Amino acid sequence: MTFAELWDSLLPVGLDTATGGYRRYAYTEADLACRDWFYKTALERRLRTEADRNGNLWAWWDVASATGTAVVTGSHLDSVPDGGAYDGPLGVVSGFAAVDLLRDRGFVPSRPVAVAAFSEEEGGRFGLACLGSRLLTGAVTPEAARELRDGPGTTLAEAMTGAGLDPGRLGADDDRLGGIGAFVELHIEQGSALDGLGAAVGIAEGIWPHGRWRLEFTGRADHAGTTRLADRRDPMLPYAATVLEARQAAAACGALATFGKVVAEPGGANAICSAVRTWLDARAPDQVVLDRMVGQIEDTARRAAEAQGVELRLRRESFTPPVEFDPALRERLARALAARGTAAPVLPTGAGHDAGVLAARVPAAMLFVRNRTGVSHSPAEHADAADCEAGVTALAAVLEELAGA
Ligand code: GLV
Ligand code: MN
Ligand code: MN
Repeated sequence: MTFAELWDSLLPVGLDTATGGYRRYAYTEADLACRDWFYKTALERRLRTEADRNGNLWAWWDVASATGTAVVTGSHLDSVPDGGAYDGPLGVVSGFAAVDLLRDRGFVPSRPVAVAAFSEEEGGRFGLACLGSRLLTGAVTPEAARELRDGPGTTLAEAMTGAGLDPGRLGADDDRLGGIGAFVELHIEQGSALDGLGAAVGIAEGIWPHGRWRLEFTGRADHAGTTRLADRRDPMLPYAATVLEARQAAAACGALATFGKVVAEPGGANAICSAVRTWLDARAPDQVVLDRMVGQIEDTARRAAEAQGVELRLRRESFTPPVEFDPALRERLARALAARGTAAPVLPTGAGHDAGVLAARVPAAMLFVRNRTGVSHSPAEHADAADCEAGVTALAAVLEELAGA
């Protein structure tokens, strides 16, 4: 099967034909269809499959003579609301395609090799990004995870039970981690640096520290046509001031701050709302800058809320410290690619990844594939077929290097 055929076999799953975006949220019908696709694809390749305690999927290339710690590749299959086709799935599909390529060449790994798909990487349903890899590494406790809720109030525990998985087994999996010698995630680039450099494939240097903060402004619902301005307790005003402050603070700090999700309650066009719930996504080149910027945004939110007689509840929902990918592993990747004539530029990124979470426990690295539009978390995300093929070739070279004799 060609890469294109394999890629096309996953494309229809979870596609919203009206928007052209993907809605593959953890443990929903679309996600379960992605999981079925994973099992079927692995089975067709005679790879041994398993779901781990945390709902992450593994497909093992078992070779009797393979010994030592495993070389694992993979990414995630879930999406943000109306996400693109590539963010996540490209890494999983490329993992299977790289196994095909290596087998066609007659390569026999001397270490176990696996393709993995991590659960709820985007946090699109339960709010905590990289949930599957965080549970695996112990970066989030099973108790806290089980109680995470989606928008309508379903807990992760309920959603997993509904999907036939046992949430009672959630938790850090040290034995599994101890068996991994290296993890390499291939991912579409979420910007246009590779395009600017004229390169199809790059290597990740590290990930900016980043996190999500939940802000809830509570005021008083009232009539839009009869309530004097001076009598209002309108939560929309401090919310708006906070959004503007975030933009200014980010620009001043050389960082990024985004309000991409907001819920106004109860949501009548002719009423002052009672509450505004919103999420700040903040990222910066280093921790000091991130703390300074978020501190500034929080101060403004508090002052603006007080000025309007509005209550503010603010809490950090997730955080990922700065990641520097294993320098020795990175160097090995670069050498393996250079030996095959591929000069892969080294790039930092502001995007979060399971590889960044796993990096705390196992040597981890990432390959990026050129994104022709430079756009991500959007249906406009795009990698050319030739660049996807180049990604598979690069990943196969890396797996050969790491799992070779
Ligand atoms: C995941 O794509 C993230 O960076 O939030
Ligand atoms: Mn993403
Ligand atoms: Mn991703």
